[in-house]
Amino acid sequence: MQILTTAAGLQAYTEQARQAGHRVGLVPTMGALHAGHLQLVQAARADCNEVIASIFVNPTQFNNAEDFRLYPRVPEADAALLAPAGCTALFAPSVAEMYPQPTVLHFDFGALERVMEGAHRPGHFNGVATVVSKLFHMARPHRAYFGQKDWQQVAVVKQLVADLSFDLEIVACPTIREADGLAMSSRNRRLDAPARAAAPLLYQVLQAAAAQVRQGVPPAQVQATAEATLTREPLFTSEYMAVADAQTLQPLTNYAPGRAVVLCLAAHLGGVRLIDNMVVAG
Ligand code: PAF
Repeated sequence: MQILTTAAGLQAYTEQARQAGHRVGLVPTMGALHAGHLQLVQAARADCNEVIASIFVNPTQFNNAEDFRLYPRVPEADAALLAPAGCTALFAPSVAEMYPQPTVLHFDFGALERVMEGAHRPGHFNGVATVVSKLFHMARPHRAYFGQKDWQQVAVVKQLVADLSFDLEIVACPTIREADGLAMSSRNRRLDAPARAAAPLLYQVLQAAAAQVRQGVPPAQVQATAEATLTREPLFTSEYMAVADAQTLQPLTNYAPGRAVVLCLAAHLGGVRLIDNMVVAG
């Protein structure tokens, strides 16, 4: 596995791959890799001859300095996981390499980002769109792989690709869960033992809410029940629970036949912010 740290190095590497007729897959990550990331690498490996994983804890997408400071960073362990998973190159740039000068361009994804993560983390999707655009320009992949745990991020990145005519395909891969249902996340490493023991409640809340949606329980009631359940567990502070259209991400007041529903929640647990979601087919 090649280790690349400069934009020029990445550009040269992928240019050579394309010249050789290879398909290039990109798996953008912020490191602290888990089985969810490795599944993205494996999916890319199944489609592409070259699989590039990027590891970059992107400062511009954090609206909370403490969250950025505490974000887990384990570069050696990450590199050791990537090669056996089928990664052919790792791009691990510095902040100065990615941001040689402060960016002035601002992305606005309209209604798509006025809800959920966008509403609760001002500037988050501007930072995501900035760094993802840079990575797409540097690597020029045929395909880029993202996890559905970040449902809204996938929607925003697809909009970015459509609006700016990036010549690539976005592949969204299912959320990978621990045996007790907790969605895999780099932030799970920061949970202490009591918080980790309580964490599967997020999945249980989503499962119960999905069952209610299938029964036709009104969205407001589904939301209230989920929030009440989380509030009863003293370690949790619920940030939001959304019952939304799975495509537009707009909150629902009722259900429309044939339209999938996405249930998204964010909660703080022992000082760690976790998100999860579940889709209910229409
Ligand atoms: O999902 C993530 O890890 C990040 O938001 C991404 C896509 C790598 C951009 O920094």
